[in-house]
Amino acid sequence: MMDDQEKYMAEHFDLQTWKRILKIIVRDKKSLFFMLLAVVVMTCIDIGYPLLNKFALETFFSDKPDFDYVPYFIALYFAIALGMGISVWAFIRGAAKVEERTTFEIRMQAFRNLQQLSFSYFDTTPTGWVMARMTSDARRLASIISWGLVDFLWGFLLMIGILLISFFINWRLALIMTALLPIFIVIAIFYRKKILKEHREVRKINSHITASYNESFMAANTTKTLILEDDNATEFNDLAERYKRRAIRAAFFSSLFWPTILFLGYVGVAIVAYAGGKMVLNGPIGFIFTTGTLYLFIDYAIKFFDPVMVVARVLTDLQQAQASAERVISLIETPSDIIDKPEVVEKYGTIFEHKKENWEPIEGSITFENVSFKYKNTDTNVLTNFNLEIKAGEMVAFVGETGSGKSTIVNLISRFYEPTEGRILIDGKDYRDRSISWLHANLGYVLQTPQLFSTTIKENIRYGKLNATDEEVIASAKLANAHNFIMEQEKGYDTYIGEGGNKLSTGQKQLISFARAVIANPRILVLDEATSSIDTENEKTILEAMQTVLKGRTSLVVAHRLSTIVNADKIVVLRNGVVVEEGTHRELLNAKGYYFELYRNQFMQELEQKLIQDI
Ligand SMILES: Nc1ncnc2c1ncn2[C@@H]1O[C@H](COP(=O)(O)OP(=O)(O)OP(=O)(O)O)[C@@H](O)[C@H]1O
Ligand SMILES: [Mg+2]
Repeated sequence: MMDDQEKYMAEHFDLQTWKRILKIIVRDKKSLFFMLLAVVVMTCIDIGYPLLNKFALETFFSDKPDFDYVPYFIALYFAIALGMGISVWAFIRGAAKVEERTTFEIRMQAFRNLQQLSFSYFDTTPTGWVMARMTSDARRLASIISWGLVDFLWGFLLMIGILLISFFINWRLALIMTALLPIFIVIAIFYRKKILKEHREVRKINSHITASYNESFMAANTTKTLILEDDNATEFNDLAERYKRRAIRAAFFSSLFWPTILFLGYVGVAIVAYAGGKMVLNGPIGFIFTTGTLYLFIDYAIKFFDPVMVVARVLTDLQQAQASAERVISLIETPSDIIDKPEVVEKYGTIFEHKKENWEPIEGSITFENVSFKYKNTDTNVLTNFNLEIKAGEMVAFVGETGSGKSTIVNLISRFYEPTEGRILIDGKDYRDRSISWLHANLGYVLQTPQLFSTTIKENIRYGKLNATDEEVIASAKLANAHNFIMEQEKGYDTYIGEGGNKLSTGQKQLISFARAVIANPRILVLDEATSSIDTENEKTILEAMQTVLKGRTSLVVAHRLSTIVNADKIVVLRNGVVVEEGTHRELLNAKGYYFELYRNQFMQELEQKLIQDI
């Protein structure tokens, strides 16, 4: 996480990244066009207004004032007021629209990409990181880009416009004005750099603080049992203290910036006023310099330094947002490790658009052919030259001590990961020759820590088959033996189960996810420690239910409790990713090998516990 923070703390300005972001913005061409048009109109008015004043001054405060023009001036001022009002309204509305559209677009594209990313991405990317990109980065970028564009265009046009007109009317005064420009730019860059650096530090500490918060929430139980409250508090105190110091420093520089700029700006205005005043009083012979022109220059001088600052600010804002932009782009563009080949997509469709008419029905036989596998960013193989044959409709159980590779095998079958070497065949064909969706549409998967969604029980079960009727939901709940406890809930199937189902016990969550897995009537069913949180009494009933549910399907069951798998057609005993024994429960017991030992130990333990309970 922290490495990542450093990684994206890029200091350089990378045009490539911004081009990609721009591509997202120009999707809404209409809003963008009207926004920019409004800005151009507004800038023209900004430049034109002092000009109009100048002419008014010259017309009405001359030696021979001509009042016939009064109605025209009134009409012009009215038009300017109206134009100003309309263009301000239009650009605010436009920028807000562009901002919202961009946020929406970034979130949609990122979300879409997240849907298709493989497990290995989520193994190495913390949830918090993704959340931060989707929420704060997306918004920040959209806001900087939309309002930044407005400010930049306005500032740039105003600057150029004022300069052009000034040089046209009086190049001497215009030169004085421009002479101050480099000083401004140097000061602006100096302060901006300082502020940027301080902010970067502040953000770095802030991300440590967020991580700290996060951990202290997530690990509240552990912290309490380990009596780490005091140490945690001290550590946090240090962090917060550092944050405070840095933030105050950043505020110090920020607070100095504007006064310095304002001071210099008005010094510039004063110089222009002084030089211009002198020209009015005793300009060279044949040189016409009116009070109106002096007014124009003073007004332009005041206006001139504002856009310079705005442009400088936008540029530094963009630089500051560079990191956000890179992270967002990385989220949108990270390719999945597991994707269908083009010819497979052609035939079977994408994960968003299936071509179901081309999907072959599935039998459910599975073959591992010399499969080797290692997780990304690790060095050692979890499986090496692994071979296994599973017939359609068989119930195969995987047993072995923790870390022996059981979950890895079932995750490979589910194509959450793909073999590094070798092939996995389903119905005799490499599963990479058919689409991921084809497999997943035929696969039910129940985990030890089931993931439920924050809606009702009924909807959670229905996620397994979106068009299921209420009757089907109830039938599958009955099959999974979940019906009884569901009926005991306050609102039965309509009970809302809270975020991630946290209003239910782990065992209850497992029953629901079991019902969800069977409702779609999958040909292959994967149960990874699915029954480990269900009490022995319930387990018996769910086992009976399983017998009916599993019948005719290929099922892969990982279970620590060996009593649950004695009926399996085949038990595969693993040790460090290698099959050490294979056979039915009976055969393996007779062999008196590793399985026999495992079984005996567990049997004795359970017996012991039972005896203790009975006493
Ligand atoms: N996402 C991962 N990234 C890197 N290594 C992993 C990952 N998941 C598992 N491993 C490693 O692969 C090996 C096999 O793990 P696996 O989860 O398959 O074991 P298991 O038999 O299911 O264990 P358990 O009974 O504890 O669930 C272990 O050494 C583990 O450390
Ligand atoms: Mg496991």
